[in-house]
Amino acid sequence: MKTALITGVTGQDGAVLAELLLEKGYSVHGLRSYSAVPDTARIEHLDDVVLHYGDMSDGGSLTRLIETIKPDEIYNMAGMSHVHVSFDMPELTADVNGLGPLRILDALRVLDTDKDIKFYQASSSEMFGRSPAPQSEETSFQPCSPYGTAKLHAYWSVRNYRDAHGLFASNGILFNHESAMRGEEFVTRKITKAIGEIEAGQRDKITLGNLDARRDWGHAKDYMAGAHAILQHDKADDFVLASGQSYSVRDFVERAFAVIDIQIEWQGEGVDEVGVNVKTGQTLIDIDPALFRPKEVHELIGDASKAKEILNWSPKISFDKLVEEMVQADRIEGKSPMMRAA
Ligand code: GDD
Repeated sequence: MKTALITGVTGQDGAVLAELLLEKGYSVHGLRSYSAVPDTARIEHLDDVVLHYGDMSDGGSLTRLIETIKPDEIYNMAGMSHVHVSFDMPELTADVNGLGPLRILDALRVLDTDKDIKFYQASSSEMFGRSPAPQSEETSFQPCSPYGTAKLHAYWSVRNYRDAHGLFASNGILFNHESAMRGEEFVTRKITKAIGEIEAGQRDKITLGNLDARRDWGHAKDYMAGAHAILQHDKADDFVLASGQSYSVRDFVERAFAVIDIQIEWQGEGVDEVGVNVKTGQTLIDIDPALFRPKEVHELIGDASKAKEILNWSPKISFDKLVEEMVQADRIEGKSPMMRAA
């Protein structure tokens, strides 16, 4: 039986991956950082995950855990995942997202565990920043957020420890991936959650930022299967995982409302633009300039040809299916999507 350690096990990716690895017969350990408010809702149904306290900013805790568990595979899914918030907390973002993975890599370098532990780093398409789409493993990086620059530090640390010290360390450069377990601060879930509340008469509208940003959105289940495949490859390497299609935030809004049979018409321009219900004339979307980022990544479209060719990986769940699933999950009253995942 293989043993895996997942950092960030309480987040969307950690929870989806934990479930997948348990299904595959792994023994799964999860790192959770201390939080005054319980944060284990996404994994409450996964009784077999062994939880440990530790933190990406506490190197000693990481080293001790690796030494005790002696996992075959480590998946680093931990971090400060909100790009906008990273502008307000750049130092913490650099510490957790940039230095955190380095702490694990260095522990792997110095520890004598009698095992070649494989390390997966959750690298991000946000590292491409303003590099023109489509972006592949060969595309140059032009990050434009503290989040992106911190992720780039970790990306190069993985490559450096692989080349300099022979570690089995791989980067999965994942484009946006969502699910009903997505945090409510990310735009897709913010929209689907709000639609559920609008339908239930609990709110009137959704306030958003930049409607024209384009993202390559896929389903977290497909992408976590890809992360696992990356560590099963016989050689450590770096892979883009993406759908190859991009949609704007505006597209997402339109398709999400269409799931509950509401057609949106856009009126006005810039920060005065609104989205109205064609049938009733009710304003359902408006704009708050505070939700725009100091610097925006305009368009991400991934080219995952390498993963398809070498790992035989390609996403199975379409954009439309993803939107439908998220909206439907948020429609059910009185039960959170995290509970429904159980
Ligand atoms: N969050 C948010 N809230 N984003 C908004 C809003 C809003 O009200 N209105 C418009 N947007 C736009 C953002 O400006 C951005 O262009 C786009 O929606 C997507 O934002 P997020 O859902 O916050 O995701 P992200 O692309 O910044 O980052 C996600 O994907 C990365 C991979 O590229 C995160 O999951 C990162 O952790 C991940 O690395």
